[in-house]
Amino acid sequence: MDKKIILAKSAGFCFGVQRAVDTVEEELKKSPKLIYTYGPIIHNENVVEDLKEKGVHVMEEGDDLSASEPGVMVIRSHGVSKKIMDDLSKKEYKVVDATCPFVKKIHNIVSEYSEKGYHILIIGNESHPEIQGIIGWIHGDSYTVIDSEEEAEQFSIENNTKICLVAQTTYNHNKFENLVEIIKHKGYDVFAVSTICNATHERQEEAAQIAELVDVMMVIGGRSSSNSRKLYEICKDKCERTFFVQTAKDIDLSVLKSTNTIGITAGASTPNNIIEEVQNTCQRVLNNY
Ligand code: F3S
Repeated sequence: MDKKIILAKSAGFCFGVQRAVDTVEEELKKSPKLIYTYGPIIHNENVVEDLKEKGVHVMEEGDDLSASEPGVMVIRSHGVSKKIMDDLSKKEYKVVDATCPFVKKIHNIVSEYSEKGYHILIIGNESHPEIQGIIGWIHGDSYTVIDSEEEAEQFSIENNTKICLVAQTTYNHNKFENLVEIIKHKGYDVFAVSTICNATHERQEEAAQIAELVDVMMVIGGRSSSNSRKLYEICKDKCERTFFVQTAKDIDLSVLKSTNTIGITAGASTPNNIIEEVQNTCQRVLNNY
């Protein structure tokens, strides 16, 4: 039997995260000014540390903008509120907006419809920075965030209020449909836009398909990356010999012995060089046994 490695095409950074990281790299090359990111550009310690070494400063929400010398501020893919954008411009930062276009679309929808008098109903996790950013583009304070069937059941508003409904980009599709049904069932006038991005779903589907075909499955991700853990669970379900590794160093080479096929996928915050290292290590073992 042919020995081979199947690497998931969707492994690693999604389009929005890749774009944000590339934006920081480009600014580093072209701008002599101080470069900041608003929050860590990505939830991966290696990438953030690497950028810090190259001179990128990470500003946290709530940091006093006046306390630092203004420079270039890159906004990460999650986006930020309009107030933060305005504050940065007022303090003379040059804002480079790497908000993912799929998130930006939600900002535009909630801004337009709240101005028209709609109540904005957001399906997602209120404490997530993406949702905080979205809330910050709503005119006024007529909005609600719901995250469960129970909250959808409890939702109530004056009968003649028009509702504009959007979702967090990474929300589970079936759960979203279910919550929309509950809200519509109440008889409200609802304009619902499915703003879920398919990147997460596609990564999970592909991982499951590969795990079904291989002897050993490697899932690469950060310790605290919940989307990588989820990938691990999905793969483990299909392939008993599924392993979660942060880098190539974590691979237990003995488990790869007498293996013909190895599948590899990675969470959204895993950089390409780590994926390549894992792939090369697996390839070396396959060649030697
Ligand atoms: Fe990534 Fe943008 Fe989708 S950041 S997960 S491509 S919404």
